[in-house]
Amino acid sequence: MRTLTTISQLKANVGQSVWIGCWLNGKRSSGKIQFLQLRDGTGYVQGVVVKSEVAETIWDAAKELTQESSLYVKGIVRDEPRSQSGYELTVEEIEIIQITQEYPITPKEHGVDYLMDRRHLWLRSPKQRAILVVRAEIIRSIQQFFDERDFTLVDPPILTPSSCEGTTNLFHTKYFDEDAYLTQSGQLYMEAAAMALGKVYSFGPTFRAEKSKTRRHLIEFWMIEPEMAFVDHEENLRVQEQFVSFVVQNVLANCRKELETIGRDISKLEAIQAPFPRITYDEAIAFLQEQGQEIQWGEDFGAPHETAIAEKYDRPVFITHYPASFKAFYMKPDPNRPEVVLCADMIAPEGYGEIIGGSQRIDDPELLAERFSEHELSTEAYQWYLDLRKYGTVPHSGFGLGLERTVAWICGLDHVRETIPFPRMLYRLYP
Ligand code: 4AD
Ligand code: MG
Repeated sequence: MRTLTTISQLKANVGQSVWIGCWLNGKRSSGKIQFLQLRDGTGYVQGVVVKSEVAETIWDAAKELTQESSLYVKGIVRDEPRSQSGYELTVEEIEIIQITQEYPITPKEHGVDYLMDRRHLWLRSPKQRAILVVRAEIIRSIQQFFDERDFTLVDPPILTPSSCEGTTNLFHTKYFDEDAYLTQSGQLYMEAAAMALGKVYSFGPTFRAEKSKTRRHLIEFWMIEPEMAFVDHEENLRVQEQFVSFVVQNVLANCRKELETIGRDISKLEAIQAPFPRITYDEAIAFLQEQGQEIQWGEDFGAPHETAIAEKYDRPVFITHYPASFKAFYMKPDPNRPEVVLCADMIAPEGYGEIIGGSQRIDDPELLAERFSEHELSTEAYQWYLDLRKYGTVPHSGFGLGLERTVAWICGLDHVRETIPFPRMLYRLYP
């Protein structure tokens, strides 16, 4: 193989002749000059083929190129401030790898189902590429935030013998002769890890067999789950607002070009700075009722409720102290008012919904045992979890941030299907 440069590295090669491996994105011709829009995954650059300056075979090769044909190009790198990359290639040689016939995704508009069936190709389009770059930057920022603050990365298992977030949406599988489930959340294991390492976080795929066909639900999604020993509800919220501000500001600093390609309104992201507003569940219910919405104390919020609340703010809002009745078994009751729990959901602005769910956990062994019988959980399957309260229990808290909803919000996308390379959704397992 010849030595290749990438488009991202062109700036180090101005005035020199380099080879790149690339695909043809598009092409224009003026009769004597052909302009090739080239992409190599790291960026985009225009290749200029001047008829009078290249061999006839090179001119003809350029003419033959179709959308998504693959090729090697040799050219001289020129400064070109008017182009998106800032550079241009004066083409000297072209070596075709493959001429592509009838590429199915053309610059014209396609329907969503058509594109989803061709997700493996759709990823090549500039907007989809930009989203994946932002997703990677979000992941990098998440890890940086926790790594810089003495958290240890811990990986919980994916195959589990019991549920974390309730039994209604578990994926069942056989584990030899036993029953097993794909994890809904690594939290319970992260609580064990926090008792060993103090501050921990996990980052991995989680699964919910939810029959929800909404723009916020995936069947397989990625979650970041920090868990912190000796941290109460209040401090838990402070970590969350610092964390989310850090991630958004990092993306703004490092992914401007991608956000522009996606068409994101950047001013909305600039406002995302801690502290975030907080309202209690009670206040949220009162507000919704004032607005004439049909909701009673004790009922969970739906997407329209969350959106109505979030619209009041230019940054994410915490809704705290939900009724224990519909929240998870492990949440610690408010000592002053045991019918509500020390929990919070973080609701993103602009209608993107809940991006974080978190709480202080029950640390009292007796209360936890009570919850187990109320929720009809098998003490056998969770014996290890009960052990954590038996051997040196401490106050502790944690939360889970849904990666794809966060990507949707930061990129300003109206559906989570574009936030993950190959989305698993209700009725979609292909490609
Ligand atoms: O609120 P959830 O269910 O909380 C937990 O699983 C806790 N055990 C986390 C913890 O405290 N360690 O899920 C957390 C977040 C949600 O706020 C949402 O962002 C995301 O995960 N999420 C989903 N994202 C996409 N598709 C789905 N079906 C999701 N379900 C939850
Ligand atoms: Mg939740």
